[in-house]
Amino acid sequence: MDQNIRVDISRAKSSAVTPDHGISTQELNDISHRVAELHKVLAQERADGVYGFYDLYQQRNVIEDVQNTAADFLERGYDNLVILGIGGSALGARALATALLPPHYNLTTRRARHGHPRLFVMDNIDPITFRQMMRLCAPGKTLYNVISKSGGTAETMAQLMIVMQAIEKKVGEDSIRDHVVVTTNPRGEDAPKSLLHPVADKYGLKEFTIPLNVGGRFSVFSPVGLFPAAMLGMDIEGLIEGCAVMDERCSHSDMETNPAYLRAAVHYLADTLKDKKISVFMPYADSLADVADWYRQLWAESLGKRYTYGGDEVFAGQTPVKALGATDQHSQIQLYREGPNDKLINIIEVRRFDRSLRIPDTLSELTELDYLRNKSMNRLMTAELKGTMDALKTSHRPTIRVQLPVVNAHTVAQLLYMLEVETAMAGRLYNINAFDQPGVEEGKQIARAIMGGNG
Ligand code: PA5
Repeated sequence: MDQNIRVDISRAKSSAVTPDHGISTQELNDISHRVAELHKVLAQERADGVYGFYDLYQQRNVIEDVQNTAADFLERGYDNLVILGIGGSALGARALATALLPPHYNLTTRRARHGHPRLFVMDNIDPITFRQMMRLCAPGKTLYNVISKSGGTAETMAQLMIVMQAIEKKVGEDSIRDHVVVTTNPRGEDAPKSLLHPVADKYGLKEFTIPLNVGGRFSVFSPVGLFPAAMLGMDIEGLIEGCAVMDERCSHSDMETNPAYLRAAVHYLADTLKDKKISVFMPYADSLADVADWYRQLWAESLGKRYTYGGDEVFAGQTPVKALGATDQHSQIQLYREGPNDKLINIIEVRRFDRSLRIPDTLSELTELDYLRNKSMNRLMTAELKGTMDALKTSHRPTIRVQLPVVNAHTVAQLLYMLEVETAMAGRLYNINAFDQPGVEEGKQIARAIMGGNG
């Protein structure tokens, strides 16, 4: 079976949704030269090691370490894996888990989970939620993976402090190493100091590193995403193969063959020429709902920038919005069709669901429901997607359709990898640095000062 994901931009074109709202062939041709030039810049920077995210899937020794460590911990039979982290240190693992584990995973039996632990991704400091996690996850039966690239994020450190006290009380200082794994910056003179290093030293904790040239939101294929994935029994080789396939497709400078560049160009042109200031990401599968959340951070934090590389003020960036089909047809589509025509809408389709569910021949007295009788829910989902796409086209709303043949490790990795490369190219088209986040820092410092720290 062809596992390649497909990107169809035909309904983002002027021929489909009028020249006011869609991109013309001429506009695409014009930008293709710039994309090809920028490809050289990105390729050179990749070769120079400026961006590490491209090559994470090739770090065989790291991946082996992740798998061996997970196998070792799994032998000890933990009930729970708890991730302590926020932003890029949490969203990737959650996106993979929602995509690749069964729905309502934590409610399934240990047997159905093949002995793998339940998963709790703690990416907030809501005391009610955190207390409930502590109540549900006995510290003696739980492995905590504390993830912080900087190793100083207040939210994550507060979580860690609460957890450390609970584990120490339950299992004693000497056994903390059996319950906490650290993922953070590498050590070394060039690396910023991580507060997780002295913690790992004191308790002898297993420590994974995030390469210095990989930012949080680009770290899903580092141990940030892969260690939880291995602990939960996901198909790591499938993820790696999916990255490799998409890396190959993205190695072309030509937008016709490079889906990431094509999508970057269409988004950029839609924003700058057609006033599409919003990018909606709307998968028609519950399993991809958290990929939408992950994409929202990637697109927002990478492209929302005040200054160009040259220091000109631009206030760049499209606002990413996550939606879910068919659910949000009954919440958002009214706005998308009849509200401001300021959106480029990404419809993510799963061509074949793992399972099929027939709508039975029942309630026979209701002839109004004959059109559903004996059809599958799968078919209804496809009809809803097509209906929405056609309705959006009628209203001259541009859409991009992304098709996954199925949802599995291979295709999900392709999707995430493509969105990362797309973001890198979009950053270049806007001429902004997609890899920093200066706008986040000030709020962090103020919060720290309010709490009485240095800020
Ligand atoms: O993408 C990013 O860089 C951010 O979202 C970070 O992941 C987030 O702020 C958490 O930072 P850290 O991993 O340093 O705790």
